[in-house]
Amino acid sequence: MRRPSGKRIPVTGRWRISSEAALSLASCPKLSLKVDMHALTRGLYGPFLAQLVVVRRCNLSCGYCNEFDETSDPVPTATLKARIDKLKELGTFSLEFTGGEPMLHPDITELIDYARSKSFHKVMMISNAYLLNEKKVKALNDAGLMEMQVSVDGVLPNEVTVKVLKPMLPKLRMLARTAKFPVVLSAVLGATSPGEALQVVEAAKEFGFRPRVLVLHDGSGQMQLDEEGQAAFARVKEMLGGRRFREAHDYRERILQGGVAPFKCRAGSRYLYVDEFGDVHWCSQTRGVFQKPLLDYDRADLKTQFYTKKTCADACTIGCVRTQSAYDEWRSQPLDFEGPRRLPLLQG
Ligand SMILES: C[S@@+](CC[C@H](N)C(=O)[O-])C[C@H]1O[C@@H](n2cnc3c(N)ncnc32)[C@H](O)[C@@H]1O
Ligand code: SF4
Ligand code: SF4
Repeated sequence: MRRPSGKRIPVTGRWRISSEAALSLASCPKLSLKVDMHALTRGLYGPFLAQLVVVRRCNLSCGYCNEFDETSDPVPTATLKARIDKLKELGTFSLEFTGGEPMLHPDITELIDYARSKSFHKVMMISNAYLLNEKKVKALNDAGLMEMQVSVDGVLPNEVTVKVLKPMLPKLRMLARTAKFPVVLSAVLGATSPGEALQVVEAAKEFGFRPRVLVLHDGSGQMQLDEEGQAAFARVKEMLGGRRFREAHDYRERILQGGVAPFKCRAGSRYLYVDEFGDVHWCSQTRGVFQKPLLDYDRADLKTQFYTKKTCADACTIGCVRTQSAYDEWRSQPLDFEGPRRLPLLQG
């Protein structure tokens, strides 16, 4: 590269600036830079995704799940709207309603509509689809839902799960016909016989849904898969096409090969899990390990949690957190977390 004078400009050794230096430069009065500090913090530490529990109760009781109860009331709509406002204020990019079963919330369409009015990049929902009917799907269309993840564990019901193709096929057909939003069909490997997950992937393709495969985690977020499961996993990967399956630096493959896939978990910063009481946790599987009320959460919390090492990261299988953390893998994580080195097993 040459200037008009002909002098060579070095193209190597480009300027690099750490995120901390960027912040102190931006706040330096002498430089009189007109930098929006809020926007800068958002860029450096803001949530890419928040999952918001709207009701803990579920209509099903999958044997592998510790994220539901059978009795609790839906979170009041006004309370949830205040939480949505706060997530927006923190700079959250995408919002996903979860539970329990979010379709059990009587005002779920109103909440989706409200979130859309706040201009999140994406407003999504995870559902077991059991409570959907044509009228409800049309209402979700009208509310502006932008994506639904439906979890299907296999083909035939067993003692662990009834979230399987056989009873769900009519619902899935109706969904394919009626939904104006994209549907992601997630199979959880490990909940049924491994070959069944392959059939779920095939069904997803047939319905025009996007197939996705999750791997069963135990209460501490670690992977559980026997030999047969591992073989099925390899086959699923082949079916989905290797590149598309290589989510978050191919963590599943690395865990299966070597037992671990260390990463810098940015939960509490790039990803927020907000429970029914309005508390932020790192993720659904570490509830109580770190906890702070969302309404008190601020930019300093986002920054601290960004830099906090998570002791459970090596064999973690929480795909959505790995995905949201992947962009910042190159940045440091110097803070040790003073707490339990091993995570408590959560009870269902
Ligand atoms: C807790 S559910 C809530 C939404 C809804 N009830 C559903 O099942 O889709 C959210 C997701 O977590 C998944 N999940 C729950 N327990 C799991 C486990 N032990 N391992 C892997 N995924 C799990 C479910 O399959 C679902 O995709
Ligand atoms: S995975 Fe979803 S459907 Fe199954 S018990 Fe948990 S919350 Fe309910
Ligand atoms: S590494 Fe992060 S996402 Fe995984 S279990 Fe720990 S806190 Fe949760």
